[in-house]
Amino acid sequence: MKHLMNPLDLSVDEINDILDLANDIEANPQKYAHACEGKTLATLFYEPSTRTRLSHEAAMLNLGGNVMGFSSANSSSAAKGESVSDTIRSISCYADICAMRHPKEGAPMVACQHSSIPVINAGDGGHQHPTQTLTDLLTIRSLKGRLDHLVIGLCGDLKFGRTVHSLIHALVRYDDIRFILISPEELRLPDYIRQDVLDNHKIPYKEVVCLEDALPDLDILYMTRVQRERFFNEEEYIRMKDFYILDAKKMELAKDDMYILHPLPRVNEIAVEVDDDPRAAYFRQMQYGVYVRMALILTLLEIKVP
Ligand code: NCD
Repeated sequence: MKHLMNPLDLSVDEINDILDLANDIEANPQKYAHACEGKTLATLFYEPSTRTRLSHEAAMLNLGGNVMGFSSANSSSAAKGESVSDTIRSISCYADICAMRHPKEGAPMVACQHSSIPVINAGDGGHQHPTQTLTDLLTIRSLKGRLDHLVIGLCGDLKFGRTVHSLIHALVRYDDIRFILISPEELRLPDYIRQDVLDNHKIPYKEVVCLEDALPDLDILYMTRVQRERFFNEEEYIRMKDFYILDAKKMELAKDDMYILHPLPRVNEIAVEVDDDPRAAYFRQMQYGVYVRMALILTLLEIKVP
C-alpha cells in the first residue's frame, strides 16, 4: 500500500501521471463524478487548516465518495491523551484513506506505520507538505507549460515553511532549475536542506535579503507567510512578520510572465492591490489543489477510470 509522506515518495513519472490525471479531471469532471462511490476519506487535523482540509474533502465529494473527520486536536481523543498510533487504528476501521495534519514533525509517518489504509501527510510541523507541492507543480506546469528551465524565487519564512521545503525537494529533480532564496537572515533555509538537497544535487542558488534585487530575474515568485505558530518567542515574530510586503510598485520590477504563487493563508506579505494583477496566481492555485487531490486519491486507492 502506498502512503504519501513527502514528495519523494513519488517518482517524477508518478508525479507526471498525477498531474496529467488532474488535467483530465479539470477537463472532464463528469467522468469522475462517481469514481469513489462507497469510499470514505477521513481528515484528521490536529492543527488549523482551511484549504488543505476542505480541499481534500471537496476532492472526495467530487469523486462521489464520503468524508468524515475532526478539525482540531481538542475535538478528538487526542485531548484525552490518545496516541496517534491508537487513533489511526480506529480510523482504519471506518475509512478507506486518510489525510493527517499534525504540529509534530513525523506524526503522519508514525500513523502510516500503524495504518491499514493509505495515509496522506497534509502537513507535519515545519517539515513537509506534499499535497501542497503537487498543487504547486500543477499550477506551475499549467501556467508556464513546463517544470524545467525555471528561476524560482522562494520568499519569506524559509526556515519554518514546510511548503517551501517540500517544493524544493520536488523541483530539484527537473532540468535547469535555479532558486533565489529570499529571506531575512533569521529565517534562512535550514542547513540540512541547503546542503543535503541543493548542494547534493548541484542546484544553483543565491541567498538574498532584498526582494527587489531578485524580482527582475524570476519566472515564479513563491511567497510565504511568516509561520507565527512555530516561533519560540512572540517578539521575534513581531519583528519578522512584515519584513516582506509585495505591492503593485514592486511588481513593476517583475517580468510580464512571472507568476506569483502563495500556499495561503496570506497575512500582510502580499498587498490586496496585487490580487488584480494578471500575474497573481494564488487563487487559481487553490482550484488546482482540488483537481490534484482528486487525482491523488484515485491514485492511492488504485481506482482507474476508463
Ligand atoms: C500552508 C501550511 O499549512 O503549511 N498552508 C496550506 O496548507 N495551504 C502554509 C501556511 O500555513 O502558511
